[in-house]
Amino acid sequence: MAIDRFGRNIHYLRISLTDHCNLRCVYCMPEDMTFRPNADMMQDDEILFLTRLFASLGFDKIRLTGGEPTVRANIVDIVRGITSTEGIRSVSMTTNGVLLKKLSQPLADAGLQRVNVSVDTLDPDKFHRLTRWGKLDDVWDGVLAAEQAGLTPIKLNAVVVKGYNEDDVVDLAALTYDHPWQIRFIEMMPFAGATDLQTQQVVTMAQIQEKIESEFGKMEIANNGKLDGEARVFHLHGAKGDVGFISSVTHPFCSACTRARLTSDGRLRLCLLREKEVDLLTPLRAGATLEELRHLILNGVWEKPWGHGLADGVIPLNRVMSEIGG
Ligand code: 5AD
Ligand code: SF4
Repeated sequence: MAIDRFGRNIHYLRISLTDHCNLRCVYCMPEDMTFRPNADMMQDDEILFLTRLFASLGFDKIRLTGGEPTVRANIVDIVRGITSTEGIRSVSMTTNGVLLKKLSQPLADAGLQRVNVSVDTLDPDKFHRLTRWGKLDDVWDGVLAAEQAGLTPIKLNAVVVKGYNEDDVVDLAALTYDHPWQIRFIEMMPFAGATDLQTQQVVTMAQIQEKIESEFGKMEIANNGKLDGEARVFHLHGAKGDVGFISSVTHPFCSACTRARLTSDGRLRLCLLREKEVDLLTPLRAGATLEELRHLILNGVWEKPWGHGLADGVIPLNRVMSEIGG
């Protein structure tokens, strides 16, 4: 088991399969983003090797992220390799949904259990403005295909940005009346790259909740008030789905954190919002033994930072969001 010095059992690994993406969301990366050369990224066999290693240390839950994980070559084979790794209990993916229309069924057949799809607005023009390149229809078709393929329960993620989509939270929340989905509103977090927008255009959980409740009335607390993953969940009266809030900025959930991240260039990142990382890929390529690699992981986890420093103005600058995977 991988335990940190605060007694948290770290057993959830988010693997970023690539830093590349087929969209350019304003809160995530600049339009002229340059990406990492392929040779610097974990190759398919390296991903599966490291997955087995993490599984041998008690990691049992994997989420595949990016950039955009579905643009990775051989994505279906990679998913099959991970889902068939001994000890891995749950495998899910966070995606922008653009390619889900054609990939949902093959991914489900490869053993993927669920998807979270990023949908920040239901207005096609605003969607295009926020993602710079995206077509809302593609994503909507993708969400329906995912539901059809049984990649459920479907969760939709919306990052709320002042001046872009803060009023769209009402229509997004209304989706829960007709669909058994969880619509989750994410407070924007600051990283290098787009820091001014990220710090100045945050919309808080309280502001989003107020907009939704002034339209539909007070929401009930769902899930007995417990966090669902990282989300605080609520329920609109008579709705089929739930509304969730991921409020890392105003209500950090660090004490309940069980996660670590593996970046696409093979670094173990201990906290989304802290720069500390442990390089695993370089030693792996240099022929490190299994024992040496296990040691690097366990020591890294032990040193996992308690939590982020946003309240003190500490912003991680060594990577942009798309290089970490959320
Ligand atoms: N703050 C919060 N969430 C972000 N995402 C991307 N950039 C940010 C940011 N700066 C979200 C995406 C996606 C998930 C991987 O992270 O919208 O849902
Ligand atoms: Fe791509 Fe996701 Fe970043 Fe948007 S938020 S640019 S979809 S990686």
